[in-house]
Amino acid sequence: MEPIRIGVIGIGDISDVYLNNLKKYDAVKVVACASRGLEKAQRKAAQHGIPKAYASGDEVIADPEVDLILNLTTPQAHFQYNLAALQAGKHVYTEKPLAATFDEGRQLAGLAREKGLLLGCAPDTFLGGRLQNLRELIDNGTLGRITGGGAYFVGHGHEFHHPGPAFFYQPGAGPLYDMGPYYMTALLSLLGPVQRVCAMATKAGETRVVPSGPCEGQVLPVDVETHICATLEFACGAVVTLTCSFDVWDSELPRLELYGTKGTALIDEKDPISGPNLFGGDLLLRTPEHYRWRDHDRAPEVVGEPWAVVANAHPFNSVSHEENPRGIGLVDMVYAMRNGRAPRASGDMALHSLEVMECILRSASEHIFCEPSTSFERPAPLPLDFPRSEED
Ligand SMILES: NC(=O)c1ccc[n+]([C@@H]2O[C@H](COP(=O)([O-])OP(=O)(O)OC[C@H]3O[C@@H](n4cnc5c(N)ncnc54)[C@H](O)[C@@H]3O)[C@@H](O)[C@H]2O)c1
Repeated sequence: MEPIRIGVIGIGDISDVYLNNLKKYDAVKVVACASRGLEKAQRKAAQHGIPKAYASGDEVIADPEVDLILNLTTPQAHFQYNLAALQAGKHVYTEKPLAATFDEGRQLAGLAREKGLLLGCAPDTFLGGRLQNLRELIDNGTLGRITGGGAYFVGHGHEFHHPGPAFFYQPGAGPLYDMGPYYMTALLSLLGPVQRVCAMATKAGETRVVPSGPCEGQVLPVDVETHICATLEFACGAVVTLTCSFDVWDSELPRLELYGTKGTALIDEKDPISGPNLFGGDLLLRTPEHYRWRDHDRAPEVVGEPWAVVANAHPFNSVSHEENPRGIGLVDMVYAMRNGRAPRASGDMALHSLEVMECILRSASEHIFCEPSTSFERPAPLPLDFPRSEED
C-alpha cells in the first residue's frame, strides 16, 4: 500500500523526535516540511532526507502531493494551520492543544466531520506501555471500580531548558494547556469523559526572566494562570484532583494515581518534567492485602511491603525525552483510516480535553461549577503487537 504523504509545519524543538520516529513506519512518509524561512526548512529537509522544503505553512498545505498535515507549530498557530489544512482537504494531526480555545476546536472538529477528514491530536503518550498497562489493570478488574485519583504536574516552567520559552506563558499554553493535556488525556483515555468541573487558579507573577540558554535575561510576560487546582468529576463516577503549576520550586511530585475499590495504581517520577508525558516507566500497585497501616501496639512503625511494580508486556516504553515514540498516534490514525476504525488519539477526545481545560479556567474565574457539553468514545487499548496487527 502507498504511504500517506505527510507535510510538516513547524520544525522546532520537538520536530526531530517526530521525524526520526516516522521513518520507522512504512505506512507514512514525510514528503515536505516548512518553517518561517526557507533556509531553516532546507536544513531540516537535508538532515532528514525530506524531498521538499517550503518557506511557509501555507505552501505545504497547497502542495497537491501532501495528504496529511503534521502541525508542530507553537500552540498559538495551531488553529490557523489546522483550519487551513482541513479547508484544503488534508487530514490533520496536530501537537497539543488542538486549538487555543474550545470554540476554535469545535470549528475544526465540525469541519473535519463535514469533509470526511481525519483529525488527530497529541499527546499520544497514553499509548505508551505504562499507561496501557494501567488501562489493563482497570479493564481486567484488578483495581475494582475507580472512585478517585490525583494528577499533579508541578515544576518551575520551561524557561530552564527550552530554547524559546516565551510561548509557554501565552494563552493556549501555560501549565494547564501545555502540560495539562498529558495528564488530562491519560485520565480521559482511562476513565472516559468528564461531566463536571470546579477549579481555582492564580499566578506567582506578571513576568518571568529566562535564567539561561539562547534567551538568557529575556523578560517574559505571563498572560496565563500558572498555578491551577481543579476537581474533575468523571461520568464513570470517579472524582479526580488535577494540579498544574509552573510556580513550584521542587516537590516530591509529579504523580498520577488512581484509587480503585480493590487497589491504588500510580506512576511517580523524580524528574520534575516527567510523568504521563513519558511513554514508559514503572507502574506501581498496592492492593488491600499489602495495605500499609500503623499497628497501635507497635506505633510508630508502619507495617507493610513496598509498592509492587506491575509486570508490563506492552510496547513503547521509552523513558527518554529526547528519544521517544511521539507520532505513534499519527501512525495509528493512518491505520485507522485504512482499516475503517476509530483513531485512538482522536480529535473528539482532544476537543473534550480542550473543553474541560476551558471549563477549569472558567470555573476558576467565575467561581462556578462547569459542565462540558462534548463527549467521546474511550479509545480502544493498543494491541500488544501494534502496528503488525493492523497489517493482517
Ligand atoms: N519541545 C518539547 O519538548 C515538546 C514536547 C512535546 C510537545 N511539544 C509541543 O510541540 C509544539 C511545538 O513545540 P516546540 O517546543 O517544538 O516549539 P518551538 O518554538 O521550538 O518550534 C515551533 C516551530 O513552529 C514554527 N512556528 C511558530 N509559529 C509559526 C507560524 N505562525 N507559522 C509557521 N511556523 C510557525 C517556529 O518557527 C518553529 O519552527 C507545541 O505545541 C508544544 O506544546 C513540544
